Amino acid sequence: MRDKEVILKAAEIIRKGGIVAFPTETVYGLGADAFNPFAVARIFEVKGRPYFDPLIVHVANHTDLDRLVIEIPSDAKKLMERFWPGPLTVVLLKKENVPDIVTAGLQTVAIRMPKHSMTLSLIELAGSPIVGPSANPFGYLSPTTAKHVQDQLGDKIDFILDGGPCEVGVESTILSFFEKRPLLLRPGGVPLEEIESIIGEVEITPVEEGRPSAPGMLPRHYAPRTPIVLDWSKKNLDSYRDKKIGLLVFQEPKNFLKFHQIEVLSKKGDFREAAANLFSAIRRLDALHLDLILAEAVPEVGLGRAIMDRLRRASNVISTTNDSISTFRGMGKKAYTTEDLIRDRKCERNIEDEEDRG
Ligand code: TXA
Ligand code: MG
Repeated sequence: MRDKEVILKAAEIIRKGGIVAFPTETVYGLGADAFNPFAVARIFEVKGRPYFDPLIVHVANHTDLDRLVIEIPSDAKKLMERFWPGPLTVVLLKKENVPDIVTAGLQTVAIRMPKHSMTLSLIELAGSPIVGPSANPFGYLSPTTAKHVQDQLGDKIDFILDGGPCEVGVESTILSFFEKRPLLLRPGGVPLEEIESIIGEVEITPVEEGRPSAPGMLPRHYAPRTPIVLDWSKKNLDSYRDKKIGLLVFQEPKNFLKFHQIEVLSKKGDFREAAANLFSAIRRLDALHLDLILAEAVPEVGLGRAIMDRLRRASNVISTTNDSISTFRGMGKKAYTTEDLIRDRKCERNIEDEEDRG
């Protein structure tokens, strides 16, 4: 089928209340008509996502935007002019007709205009803004290719619109305009520096252990099944000698140990390239059934901030197999060692493997 026919088909599915995975410049999203609460409910089900975690609504134009929000503060306007379509999400006061299931009952709604021609056409043809959480099971890494979506959710959704690999590779930057001053809720594809150069200093939400500041800002998120360790040094490498270890580095590996597999995010040390490779590289390592992935920290400037945010959340020690997010294991307990981490994650993996087979 030609692109146009494929997009028409996807739009038809959305109009009828179905769910379609769609490409964006950041990651693939899972789309449904934002004004159809039943379709939106199915997205939560398919993802295994808790209902208290609100969704981003994707718009194709300013008419869509007017259907969703009461007013737009001038700083938000400036940023939308500069970065839309693009990886910036703004949180604004919502109109009453926006279904509660979309916003988890909040007074605000998160909105962005994605930079992908297929998806902009899809939204226009569907005749309605579409909700779009990342198209992955809750808590797992976001998909950056149609195949990632197919592998994890293919049998649970109605259609996948394949728009090629995502250019940016990390999710959108989320800024709330609901507070006194603009508040950064999630670092992402638009670097903080670029935002501040336009509207001045913004506040930053700290990642608090256990209690998400925004519902989806859980400390363990974007996580593979293999444990990721971010804080490690040459000194403690000796204790991992008998382990099957993968290494995730920003630029060039410094070879102190024989690694099972090494993934380099960007040979030339380019943040854009590194961000675009991040989730695919972690997925490749995750597929190898390693004991451990050691990740190297990247400098926290520009897109480096979003990369480090994802790596930190991916490496936090919280159970993801249990539905309840309150079952943080090891957190706040200093004696929790890497050995504990490997054992626990292995145990979770075995349970998941059995479930996959069963
Ligand atoms: O790049 C992206 O933003 C991708 C693509 C598909 O557009 N989408 C994405 O959606 O990352 P999701 O659902 O994985 O993450 C959305 C985040 C969640 O952490 C959620 O808590 C937050 O946005 N969010 C949504 N509505 C909000 C609101 N009204 N107030 C505060 N946070 C909100
Ligand atoms: Mg997500």
